[in-house]
Formats: sequence, C-alpha cells, structure tokens
Amino acid sequence: MKIMEIDGGKEISGTIRISGAKNATVALIPAAILTDEQATICNIPEITDTEALCDILTTLNVKIHRASESIVIDPQEMKNIEIEESYSKKLRASYYFMGALLGKYKKAIMYFPGGCSIGARPIDQHLKGFEALGAKVTVDRNKYIVEAEELKGANIYLDIASVGATINIMLAATKAKGTTIIDNAAKEPEIVNVATFLNNMGAKITGAGTSTIKIEGVEYLHQCFHEVIPDRIEAGTYIIAGSLCGKNLKIDNIIPEHIDSLLSKLEEIGVDLEVGADYVIVSKKEKYKSSTIKTAVYPGFPTDLQQPLTVLLTQSTGKSKIIETIWENRFMHIPYLRELGADISIKNQTATIVGPTKLTGTTVVATDLRAGASMVIAGLIATGKTKITNVEHILRGYEQIVEKLTSVGAKITIKEI
Ligand code: EPZ
Repeated sequence: MKIMEIDGGKEISGTIRISGAKNATVALIPAAILTDEQATICNIPEITDTEALCDILTTLNVKIHRASESIVIDPQEMKNIEIEESYSKKLRASYYFMGALLGKYKKAIMYFPGGCSIGARPIDQHLKGFEALGAKVTVDRNKYIVEAEELKGANIYLDIASVGATINIMLAATKAKGTTIIDNAAKEPEIVNVATFLNNMGAKITGAGTSTIKIEGVEYLHQCFHEVIPDRIEAGTYIIAGSLCGKNLKIDNIIPEHIDSLLSKLEEIGVDLEVGADYVIVSKKEKYKSSTIKTAVYPGFPTDLQQPLTVLLTQSTGKSKIIETIWENRFMHIPYLRELGADISIKNQTATIVGPTKLTGTTVVATDLRAGASMVIAGLIATGKTKITNVEHILRGYEQIVEKLTSVGAKITIKEI
C-alpha cells in the first residue's frame, strides 16, 4: 500500500500545468478500437486508469505504441474476447468497452465494472440504450453478454442525464444502421471530446454538449489524430488548494469555461482569482464567506469538486452547506475532515460546515479519488504532519500530484509501506 505524508502550512507559489482529462481519456481509449485503421491520441495523462485500460487493449490483441503523453492505438488485428473480471474491476470506465465492442462487432462480453464506492452505480441506462439499438443483454452471474444480429438507429430518452450512458450509447450507435437520437443526454465537456474524436475518424455525430445528440451510423472509420481536453476537475482541485495556501499560484493549460460554476462560487466566497484565456492565478486570503453549494449535472456545480471544496468551506466564516444530488454516498471524506478538526454534520444528502476551524495533522484515509484529493488539500493547510493511506485512489486521477505540488513549494512525499 502507498502512503502520502504532508507537512502542512507551506505557501505554494509558481505554476502547475494541468494534464489531459481523466474522464475523457477513459472513454477515448476504448473508443479508439472503433477505427478500422489506427488512432493517435495526445495529451493522455499518465495515471493508473490509463494503464488499466491499456492492459485491457493488450488482452484484446490491440497494438499500442506509447510515447510521452501520447498513444497510437491500432486495432486492425484485435480479437473480440471476453474481458476478464480482474481487468474490468479496476475501474468503472471499463464499461466503455461494452459500447465500443458492441458497435464494432455487435457483441461484447465483460464482467461488472469497478470504480469508487460513491454509490450503487447501476448501468441500467447504458443497457436500455443498447437494447433500443437492437441488442440483447444477458446477465450471467456477474458478467454482461450484449449481442445483436444488427444494430439499428433508435430514439433513446435517458431517464437520467448520465455521462457514462451518453458516451456508451454514442459508441454503440456510431456504426449502427440509420440514425440514433439521444434525448436528455449529458452535456459534460468530456462527451464533446469523445464525439469530436469519433467525428475525426469519420463518424457523423452532431449535438454533443447539448441535451440532444444525433448519430448517423457510418460503415467505415479511418485513422485520425486527437487531443485530450485539459482536466477540469484536476484544475478545480488545484485552484481550491491555491485559495487556501497559494501566493500567485498559476494553474495553467485549462479551459476556464469548463469550470465556470466553480469560479463563480469561489468569487462568491471571496477568493482572489485572475482568470486568463487558458489559466487561473489564485492567492490565499485571510477571510472567506460561507456559501451553499448544490451539485448538479454540467454546467452545474460538478459533484467531483464538492469534496475538495468542503475543505475551503471549513475555513469560511459561518455556516456553509453542500447538497450532493448525484451520488448517494459521497461524504466519506467528512469523518476524516472531522478528525483533522473540521466542524461538519451530515443530514441525508446535505453536509453542514461551520467555520473557520483550525485543522491539525493526523492520519487519514483516501476512501475514494476525490475524497483523497480533499485529504491532500486539508494536509496542505493543517498544522503539522498529515498521513494519508490508500493513496492508490488518488493516483488513479491526478497525474504526478506529488511532483506538481512539490514543484510549487509543498512538502509532500509518497512511499510504499
Ligand atoms: C462520470 O461517472 C464520472 N466518471 C464521475 O467522476 C462523475 O462523478 C459522474 O460522471 C457525474 O458527473 C467518469 O467519467 C469515468 P453518471 P458516471 O452515469 O458516468 C446514476 C470522478 O471522480 N445512473 O453520470 O458513472 C448514477 O448512479 C468520477 O472522476 C443510473 O442510475 O456517472 C448517478 O447517481 C466519480 N443509471 C447518476 O446517474 C445509469 O445507467 C450520474 O451517473 C447510469 C447512471
């Protein structure tokens, strides 16, 4: 197991360069098997989720050529075999292989996906979409078998604006016969990035980023070159850290429009932000206002940033609230923030934070990816040393987090125990 140690109280200053978006990358890599030639993707973050997906490609006999932060994927000799549980369990996004294999071969066999334990995380909307396209879904113990004689375009209404279901149905529909309409589609920027990738191969997808996406099936997908968008959640995480211990900390290589909701909330709280074309500069201030945040689908406040933002609210004066509307179990960081000294209570899906409170270093657990990020931020401002266990969760989604924070003055180390 890996453990992180942080000596709190250091000022962080300088520039942090944001990497490619994890939540785009984990869809782009499976999507790449749809090409009938080969696909080159650059700005790929070197995180463990990328490694896990490349391992799955290798088991499918897909040829991979890795260079720094880029990958060439050649599926011309791939085999459509069952994806073992040991692979699919490593991350939730392994389920994108269902849509991609169904779209390419009209058949996909894989075990239930894994992922952070932030909720039950059903995939009924994904399966509803596959069935609408003409597939038959069989659940054989903890394995899905999805197959179709023929995939035909359909009108699909999502009961929930699910990011995963929107992308997975788009993958399956890309080569279906006829036109597919996805209504009540999710609008996250990562969905647009995947649609652009598929269109670069010759797909015919319009409306990505809106709640209605139209996919006209095509027969052939040619080679293409594509770039992963910057990670808006990584960017937001470091901006929040900068608001608590930064001095002119520059978060570079971002798309500010993708975090409009966060930047507006931070301004409401009183954070000192300079927003440029592709960067934000942030500095700590002594006093912050309390606020109420309700998570929502894009472009609302992202659920993935409510855990990091909670740490800022422990330093805001007065009573703040976070209402989590997306996931039923995304407050696992709160008991550990309390152990650090925070004053937070939970009732149903609402966390109430009273601040400001002094945080003092202790040993805490990264229960999931973004909870782990909130432990890192808390450790940066807590007095004394904070130890974080189970940091494998953090390394799934934050490329070189120790190197990036060390480069701007944080005292943070990671070691195997
Ligand atoms: C994506 O998860 C992200 N993960 C999550 O980020 C993010 O929290 C989430 O979108 C919401 O923005 C990736 O992109 C790999 P959903 P996803 O399908 O696609 C329910 C992180 O920290 N639902 O939009 O799994 C579901 O239970 C991760 O980077 C169904 O009921 O999320 C949840 O309550 C954590 N049935 C809600 O919809 C379905 O078939 C939103 O889920 C699908 C989803």
